[in-house]
Order: sequence, then C-alpha cells, then structure tokens
Amino acid sequence: MEDLHQAEQVRLWQWVEGKAKQILEAAGFQELRTPVVEDAALFERSVGEHTDIVEKEMYTLEDRKGKRLALRPEGTASVVRAFVEHYTSHNIQEGRFYYLGPMYRYERPQKGRYRQFYQIGTEIFGSDHPLVDAELIYLGHQLFKELGLNDQVSLQLNSLGSMECRRKYRESLKKFLDQVKGDFSEEARERLERNPLRLLDSKEEAVQERLASAPVMTDFLSKEAKVHFEEVQWGLKELEVPFELNPRIVRGLDYYEKTVFEWVGAGLGAQNAVAAGGRYNHLVKDLGGPDLPGVGFALGMERLVSLVPPERLSEGPTPRVYLIPLDEVAGRELFLQLNELREAGAKVHLDLEGNSLKSKMRRAAKWNADWGVISGPEERSKGVVVFRNMKESSQEEIPADELLSRLLSKFPTKTFLL
Ligand code: HAM
Repeated sequence: MEDLHQAEQVRLWQWVEGKAKQILEAAGFQELRTPVVEDAALFERSVGEHTDIVEKEMYTLEDRKGKRLALRPEGTASVVRAFVEHYTSHNIQEGRFYYLGPMYRYERPQKGRYRQFYQIGTEIFGSDHPLVDAELIYLGHQLFKELGLNDQVSLQLNSLGSMECRRKYRESLKKFLDQVKGDFSEEARERLERNPLRLLDSKEEAVQERLASAPVMTDFLSKEAKVHFEEVQWGLKELEVPFELNPRIVRGLDYYEKTVFEWVGAGLGAQNAVAAGGRYNHLVKDLGGPDLPGVGFALGMERLVSLVPPERLSEGPTPRVYLIPLDEVAGRELFLQLNELREAGAKVHLDLEGNSLKSKMRRAAKWNADWGVISGPEERSKGVVVFRNMKESSQEEIPADELLSRLLSKFPTKTFLL
C-alpha cells in the first residue's frame, strides 16, 4: 500500500480522474460512492468462492459483534448491491454509474501490483444489447485517446458465451486437460479441479503448451451468443476502435458471461492489464435484485498513470507566480491582487514571511516560480512593480496596474489543464 505524495504525481492523478469524469458524465453516468467495507458474503456470492480473489486475497475482518466483513476487492459487487438497495427497490430498471476509489487485495506485491490500488469503474444496468457493450468499450477507448495513450494500449476481446455455453466449455476443457495434466504443477492441477477456465491465463509453460491444442471457447458459443459477439465487433469496427480477438481471456471473477475484454499496456511487464471488464447478466438477480443484465469495466489507476508521460502535463502549463512584497504596505497591495491572478488561471503564492528579498527569492526558486513580482517602498513611489522572469533571471519594471494584463500576455491561450 502506497502513499501518493509527490505533487506532480497527485496532479497527474487528478488530471486523469478529471478526464474520466468528463467523458463518463457526458455519456450519462452518475457517480456512486459506496463503503469500502462490505459484508464478506457479498464478494463470495459475486466474484465467486473458488476465485483467487476470494480464496486467497480478500482482507476479511470481524466487527465487534462477530459479523464477517471484507475490504472490497473490487467495485462491481458493491455497485450492484447499492443499485438493488436504492434503485430497483423503487422500480428503477436501468442505471449508469461510475465510481472511483481504493480496492484491496492481498496479492504478492510487484511492479504494478499493490495491495491497495485505485480503480475508476463503470457499470451499466438494464440492457443486454451488444451495441451497449460497444458503446461502453468506446468510452474506455476515448479516455486512452484523450490521454494520448492509444499507441500504448491495445484492446483484447473475447466472448464467454452464456452461462450454459461456459458450463459446456468448462467440462470439455477439463476433460481434455485431465488427460495431459501429468507435467502440471500441483497448483495447476488443483486449479483444474476447482476452476479449469482459470488455467487459460496460467503463466505456467507446461499448461500453455498443452493449451495450444485444447478446445477453444469460441466453438462452444450458442447461436444467440455468437450473434451478440458479432454485433459487438461490428459496433467497434464502425466506431474505429481497434481490437484483437483473444480466446484466452477468461477473467478472474466468476460473474461474467458473453462479452469480456481487457486493455493491455505495452511495457507494463507481467501486470499488463490496464483496464478490464465484461458483461454480467445474472449478477443483479444473484444478489437479490430483479433479473436485469449489466456490463462494465474498471481501470487500474496506478497502471494507467504509469503510462502517461509526465510531459503530457506540461503542455499548456499553469504559470506559477510568486509575489514578493518587501514591506507591510506592499504585502497588502499584493494581497489584494492575489485572487484576481488566481482566477485568471495562474498559480500564485504570496510570501508574507519576513522582508528579506534574498530569502524570498530563494523560496521563490524552490517553489519553482516562473514569474516573480517584487514590490517595495521604492517601486511604490514610482507606481511600478518589478516583473521578473525567474527562469531567465531577467526583469523589468512595469506599471503596477498592468500586472495582470502583462501576465496574461505571456500566456495568451490560457489553456490551463484541469
Ligand atoms: P479486475 O480485472 O480484477 O476487474 O480489475 C480491473 C483493473 O484493476 C485491472 O485491469 C488492473 O488495472 C487493476 N488492478 C487489479 N488488481 C490490481 C492490483 N493488485 N494492483 C494494481 N492494479 C490492480 C474488476 O475489478 C472488475 N470489477 C471490473 C468490472 C467492472 N467488470 C465489470 N464491471
């Protein structure tokens, strides 16, 4: 679990979150904030009892009355619970929600894998239409595009078919692998018993070798599932969202059926999924709600942010202006200008500590100021301020009442981020 403590990093996170909110709100999503702690059974019933997440990775605890709770390992189950509790109970049959916040999984930490990580997630309830899948996937695509990441992230797509197709496929895969499991590790053999589909994305070489000739999911799709999947692909092609079909994508959560997808990032190493999701048409009902379909995805903030080059943020930078009064009167005068400059889009700091020019200049440099504004008794008598380019160490006197317009002329576009 990590602190997010560097100012630049925090700014990058805020920027990414802001972009995501903009895109999702334009598409009719509303934010939902659910508790970080839920009844542990919620995740057992949704993510699945035989998944790694529930079996090995969930942080569980007992409250003072012995109730079993869990720190949420993901957001979908919580959002479905909240949707059922507050919406379907009032006969509202559809909804589009997004959420952002920390999730917890007791995984082995490594590059891109944390025990507390942040997700931005989306869920759409009430439609089984394949073009809704395509519409949703487009929103992820749009975010990557706006962050300038299209070349680094690629979309992988698969269909798991209906629950019935999945069951048939699971049986057939198990039968096949049972015959060749001789050289599998103990762990892989155990997984074959409990959750054979998870072997498809196993990193074990012996397993991967055998899988080359194993039955593939696509051959087990029902006619309806096939038509659905084709329509999703049609939608993505029309929207010019590039994708690759990958029959190995099964996802580590049990609630999926039909469309599943992952965005993988180049250069992220073993933990290369930046975002992932899929359709879950039985989950709302399984969690006590009406029979309503759903689809969604979540992206991992740490992984996403690590792909954004820091220069992205320095495009159209916010000018940093350091105000240096040399006496109390100048302090008051600059104090009165502070908000006007900030509202014009500059980042401004007024240094009221002590009156030594030297120490204020040192602090200005440390604060990484682009511009310094110096005013003292001498300047006041002439009606000017000293306008200093801190990066070039050059300065000039300008009429005091022209400060704002001078500053804006240096940044005429005023395209500050956020
Ligand atoms: P997930 O694939 O488990 O799906 O997680 C989604 C994303 O969260 C991953 O692609 C990854 O970027 C990030 N992530 C997961 N675990 C970690 C970790 N330990 N450290 C850092 N990042 C991590 C879900 O959670 C589903 N609820 C997604 C969904 C929403 N499906 C439908 N709606």
